[in-house]
Amino acid sequence: MKILMVCLGNICRSPLAEGILKSKVSSENVYVDSAGTAGYHIGELPDKRSIAVAKKYGIDITDQRSRKFSIADFDTFDTIYAMDESNYHNIVSLARNDEDAEKVKLILKEISTNNIMNVPDPYYGGDQGFENVYNMLDEACDVIASKI
Ligand code: 4NP
Repeated sequence: MKILMVCLGNICRSPLAEGILKSKVSSENVYVDSAGTAGYHIGELPDKRSIAVAKKYGIDITDQRSRKFSIADFDTFDTIYAMDESNYHNIVSLARNDEDAEKVKLILKEISTNNIMNVPDPYYGGDQGFENVYNMLDEACDVIASKI
């Protein structure tokens, strides 16, 4: 099983999603990666605030470097989780066929009782935004891990 987490810059939300899901699954059974739809931060570490909130919960994400989503990711991954509807539409617009498009899901749809569909972009906010993002992703990744 191969899962890709995608946001815009691949420095705030999707690195957290990658680190959190990796902490809940066996790396022998599940390969988890993340990417951004934009290339603004290619090669960079996750945002300091993402690194800090992950560390607070015992997760080290400093091995990650930002990369851009590529069409080849449709071949590599079974499921591609978008952090928000904008990311979702950007990825689906790159799909070559229905099979590609069907791999793309909104991550918060995994939390069935939740009617919030977008993980808010915390980039321009404060630390509380990162805590909020962490908690949303932790809940969604519990559901994803339980289904694997
Ligand atoms: P992310 O957050 O998509 O969660 O990684 C952002 C990071 C950088 C920018 C926007 C969002 N930016 O505009 O540089």
